[in-house]
Amino acid sequence: MSHSAALENEPLYRKYIKLMTLEEKAAQLLQLAAPFYDKPGDHSEVTGPMEELGIDAATVQNAGSVLGISGAEKMIAVQQAHMEQNRLGIPLLFMADIVHGFKTIFPIPLAIGCSWNPELAERSAQVAAYEAAVSGLHVTFAPMVDLVRDPRWGRVMESTGEDPYLNAVFARAFVEGFQGEDLSGDVKRVAACVKHFAAYGLSEGGRDYNTVDLSERQLREYYLPAYKAAVDAGCEMVMTSFNTVDGIPATGNRKLLRSLLREEWGFEGVVISDWAAIKEIVAHGAAGDEREAALKAMLAGVDIDMMTTSYIQHLPELVREGAIEQRMLDEAVLRILKLKEKLGLFENPLRGADPAAEAEIMRCAEHREVSRQLAEQSAVLLKNGGLLPLRQGQKIALVGPFADSGDILGWWSWLGETETAVKLGTAMQQLAAEPADVRIAEGCGIESITDAQKAAALQAAEGADVIVLALGEASHMSGEAGSRSDIRLPEAQLELIRLMKELGKPLAVVLFNGRPLDLHGVYDTADAVLEAWYPGSEGGAALANLLYGAANPSGRLSMSFPYTVGQVPVYYNHYSTGRPFSAEEQEKGNRYISQYLDIPNDPLLPFGFGLSYTSYAYEGLQLSAQQLTADGELKVKVKVTNTGAMAGTETLQLYVRDVAGEVVRPVRELKAFRQVTLAPGESREVEFTLTEMQLRYHHSDLSVSSDPGAFRLYVGGNSRDALEAEFRLV
Ligand code: BGC
Repeated sequence: MSHSAALENEPLYRKYIKLMTLEEKAAQLLQLAAPFYDKPGDHSEVTGPMEELGIDAATVQNAGSVLGISGAEKMIAVQQAHMEQNRLGIPLLFMADIVHGFKTIFPIPLAIGCSWNPELAERSAQVAAYEAAVSGLHVTFAPMVDLVRDPRWGRVMESTGEDPYLNAVFARAFVEGFQGEDLSGDVKRVAACVKHFAAYGLSEGGRDYNTVDLSERQLREYYLPAYKAAVDAGCEMVMTSFNTVDGIPATGNRKLLRSLLREEWGFEGVVISDWAAIKEIVAHGAAGDEREAALKAMLAGVDIDMMTTSYIQHLPELVREGAIEQRMLDEAVLRILKLKEKLGLFENPLRGADPAAEAEIMRCAEHREVSRQLAEQSAVLLKNGGLLPLRQGQKIALVGPFADSGDILGWWSWLGETETAVKLGTAMQQLAAEPADVRIAEGCGIESITDAQKAAALQAAEGADVIVLALGEASHMSGEAGSRSDIRLPEAQLELIRLMKELGKPLAVVLFNGRPLDLHGVYDTADAVLEAWYPGSEGGAALANLLYGAANPSGRLSMSFPYTVGQVPVYYNHYSTGRPFSAEEQEKGNRYISQYLDIPNDPLLPFGFGLSYTSYAYEGLQLSAQQLTADGELKVKVKVTNTGAMAGTETLQLYVRDVAGEVVRPVRELKAFRQVTLAPGESREVEFTLTEMQLRYHHSDLSVSSDPGAFRLYVGGNSRDALEAEFRLV
C-alpha cells in the first residue's frame, strides 16, 4: 500500500483530516500559551501572550494544544468552550512541565539520580502524573534526560547525571511512571515527552542555549542512549533541543529527527519544538526568515510549534506552493490526533479533570511520604568526621540562609508552593528532644552578609555543641538560563563558614543546590558535609531524619564534583589518553603527562560516591570463568558486609574497561548496579550477570559490536574504589 493510501485509510483521517482546511491543519500544529481570553465567557477577543503573537480568535478555536494552565475547573471550562467552538469537535491537549512533581514536589531530578532507585523514581512520576491528571493535564514535558558533564550549566539539575546507562535506567522509569500501561483506560496517568533531543547537555562552556558540536560516535555512545530508552519505553512525545547538532539546529535537523528518530528508531509519536525553537532557526543562521524556518522544521519532522506563529503563518502557503507536500502536513496532524485518541479525549474531552479528586489528593499524606523517602535516598553524605548523626540532647546552632527557608523545591517546580515545604529548622526542632535544643539564625543572605546577621549567628552558636550550617544557591541560580562561571558558594556564605569555624566547634554543612559545586572553603573546612540538593516538599523532614540518624544516608553522586571549575568537564567515564596521569611519573618529575600543574586530575568526589553512617566491606570478587563467549554469560559474585553499627543500604556498582578497542574505550563504564539493605554485621553475596551484549560499542564506522580481548572488571561502592578482576572476551 502506498504511503498516502495508508494515510487515507486511517479512521482519524477520514473523520477529521479530510474535512480540515489547510488553516485548520496548521492551527492543529500550534501550541497556545494561556491565558488567551481575559473575559470569562467572551471568546471574541484574544488577550495575553497570544494577542502579543498576533493570534486571532479563529486560530485559537482551531488550535491543537495549550501550554501551562492548570486547575480542573479552569481546564474543564476551557475544554468545554473549545468543544463548542471547534468546527469539527477536536479536543485540546493540555501540556505542562511536570518535571519533579506537580503540587507534591519531589527532589530535583539530579538528586533523584543520586538515589540510584529507579522504582522510587517511577513511583514519584506516577504521583506527579496523578496530581497533574486530576488537574486536567494530558502531557508532561518530562523526563529531561540530557547527559550532563558541565556543572556550570544550570540545567544539570533537570538531568539524572553524567552516565548513559544510569540515565537510560531512569528515563525508562520516569516514562513508565508517567504513562502507566494504558493511557486511555488509566486517566490518572499522563503522556510523557522526553527532552531535549538531542545533546543539549553539551552546551559549550556550560552557557545555556549555546552551540553543541560533537562527533556522531560521541552522540550515539553517550548522549543518545537515554532518549532511546525513553522511546523504547513507549514515550509518546519527543521535544527538540535549542542547540545545533552537527551545525544544524536540532529543530530543523532532518537527519536527527527524520532519519534517526523516526526511521532508525521507529518513533511514531509526536515531535514538539522547544519554546520558540522553530523561529530561532533564523537567529541560529540556518533560515533566512520564519517562512524558511517553518519549512525546515516541517521537513525535519516537527509536528507542534510551541509558542511561535511560524507554522500557522506559513504552512498553508508552503503547501499551496508545493514546497511541502500536503501528505507531510496531514501526517503531522494525524500524529497529534492519534495522541488525543490514545488519551481517550475524543470520547471524554475532560479526561481525568476532577475538582473533587483535586481537592482530596493534592499533596496528600501518601504523596508526601513518597517525596520524603525520595529526599532521604537522594541526599549524599560527602564527608563525615564522625560528627553525624547528631545525638539527642546536643545543643545545635542551625545557621545559614537555608536554616529556615522554603526555597528548597528547586527550579521547575511550577506549582510547588515554597510556603508548604517542610523547612529544615522546623523539622529539626520537632525531632530534637527539646525544640530549644535547635537554635536558628539566618547568618547571612544568599549573596550578602551584615554585621547584625553575623552577631545573631554568633549568639545562636553560643553554648552550642555542634554548628550545622544550611547553605547553598537560591533556586533561581540553577535551572533554565541559570548558568554560572564560578560555581563556588557565594562569598558571603564562605565568610559565614569562616566565622563559625573560628569558634572551634564541630561544624556540619548541609548544602542546597542544583549543581555539583566547587567546594573550596566548604569541604576543607567543615567536619561533615551533607549534599541535600533541592529536596522538595518534604525536604526538611527528610534531612532532619538523616541528620539525627533516624535514616541512614545512602545517596550516591550521579555527577562528579569537580576539584575546581578549571577541571570542567570532569567525568568518570573519560578516555585514558596516550600519556595518562600517573603519580609515579609525576613524582619522578615527568611533566609530559596529561595533567594540570596546579590541580589534580581527579574530581573532588567521583561519580557513584557517597558515605553512610555505617561502613561496607567488599571481598571475594569471583568470576564464573576467565573467558566470556559471544553467546555465554559471566557470573560475577561478590560478598558485601555491613561492618558498622547501623543498618544501611549499599549500592554495589559494576564497571568494565575494554583494555584495547578498535576505538579507544572509557577507563570505566557502569554496566550494572544493585542495592542491598544490610543490618549491622550482615553479609550478602550479590551476583551480577554479564553478557557480550553489554560490551558492545560504536566502532569507527558506527557499527555496534564488541572487541575480543582483555577486559577489566570492577565492583565497588563508587567509580573509584573497587575490587578488580580480569577476563577475556573470546
Ligand atoms: C524549556 C523546556 C520546557 C518549555 C516549556 C522551554 O524554555 O527549554 O524544557 O519544556 O520551555 O515550558
